[in-house]
Amino acid sequence: MSNKTLTITDNRTGKTFDFEIKNGSCGPAVADLTTFYDKTGMFVYDPGFKSTASCSSGITFIDGEKGILLHRGYNIEDLAENSDYPEVCYLLLNGDLPDLQNKKKFIKILTHHTMLHEQILRFYSGFRRDSHPMAVMVGIVGALSSFYPEKTYDFSSEKGKWVAVSRLLAKMPTMAAMAYKYSLGQPFIYPKNELSYSENFLHMLFSTPSGEYKPSKASVAALDKLLILHADHEQNASTSTVKIAGSSGANPFACVAAGVASLWGPAHGGANESVIRMLNIIGDEKNISQFIKKAKDINDPFRLMGFGHRVYKSHDPRANVLRKYCHDLLNEVESFNAPLFKLATKLEEIALNDEYFIKKQLYPNVDFYSGIILKALGLPESMFTVIFAVARTVGWISQWKEMTESENRISRPRQLYNGKEIRQFIKINKRKKNESMFPEHIE
Ligand code: CMC
Repeated sequence: MSNKTLTITDNRTGKTFDFEIKNGSCGPAVADLTTFYDKTGMFVYDPGFKSTASCSSGITFIDGEKGILLHRGYNIEDLAENSDYPEVCYLLLNGDLPDLQNKKKFIKILTHHTMLHEQILRFYSGFRRDSHPMAVMVGIVGALSSFYPEKTYDFSSEKGKWVAVSRLLAKMPTMAAMAYKYSLGQPFIYPKNELSYSENFLHMLFSTPSGEYKPSKASVAALDKLLILHADHEQNASTSTVKIAGSSGANPFACVAAGVASLWGPAHGGANESVIRMLNIIGDEKNISQFIKKAKDINDPFRLMGFGHRVYKSHDPRANVLRKYCHDLLNEVESFNAPLFKLATKLEEIALNDEYFIKKQLYPNVDFYSGIILKALGLPESMFTVIFAVARTVGWISQWKEMTESENRISRPRQLYNGKEIRQFIKINKRKKNESMFPEHIE
């Protein structure tokens, strides 16, 4: 054991226990508690993992106090300003930015696998016409695992891992665009490989057999930046879900489907959808103060969606970058003066100057602006989290790959049990009459 240790005293017995303190390259040190149970006979209690480093990783670093986000050592602001999404994917996966030749090769690999097996297309028609596109995505991404089965692909091998990486990255926009087309009842639009990743995505979303969609420069830039800014975010809920699923050796396509499910929630990727829904409910500038009051009321569950973050406590660096592209796009689109966008700008201004939000360090997060950008691109709210899922796929699969390449044990957290102690089984005819566990309308 190194001489840097954390000593914990059990006040019940006076016994002390030493745990090694490990330093990462940046950020807080960690106390290695892997032997905590063996030494103390106790578990560590940390619901929500607020103080838990669940793994060691070299991909993404966040300093929540200073508002810093680094991918493989590069500042997110620099990447968003100077890079494009495929380059950031390459960086996350490989550890370094590609040279020209390797970038071309990577893009060729991605573009060669953008199409879906025709059998997959039949899955879509099995979904209800009015399904939420995230419900469709969970199903379709999971279904890919049947097209990439373990009996054909050894996902523990280097080759198998790259098959999973390349197919997922290439096919996600196609699956997402088809989920959208299905919801509209429009024919699926096949990928066009001469287009850039973001242009192709917009093409599949908005072209129809009768008309080619020609996106503006600002639209392509806004989408590309949005994809970069959502590409990875350390051990967040959906990434941890992918890794926990993957820790058992499950098929990586199924693991990513689990990540899609986790992302869907309103406290995670679903927040951008909730931002627009909230703006619609607020409805008018004159109602803002009433909703700010509701957000501050501890007895009211209402929260300002798109504000606050578990990790960022001074500002969300992704939000700062996206804010600029959001305003560029809004300046271009006809709907710039639309009441919804005006309302968003006003809400941002009021919340940024409100004492409660300043004191609690609740700043607009990336989802506040991404919701507005996606709305300005012409997408319905139900597609917002789908776009986030496309962007985050590289984070999920990079982190999954890194995990499979390091010492990997199945994730198996323990608990603080607060249920009944051991009791005797009573035969059914001897049991006391009890209440049904179902609410009435379920029965
Ligand atoms: N509006 C009003 N009050 C808030 C908000 C908000 N958006 N967010 C946090 N608070 C208050 C909260 O009531 C609590 O007050 P108190 O100390 O009096 O109990 C305090 O601030 C701390 O909140 P918390 O819930 O303990 O913080 P958390 O770290 O558990 O939650 C969060 C982080 C993002 C879930 C939360 O801020 C939230 O619900 N925000 C709105 C949803 C949202 O925009 N989510 C997207 C997050 S960014 C995308 C991503 O990375 O996935």
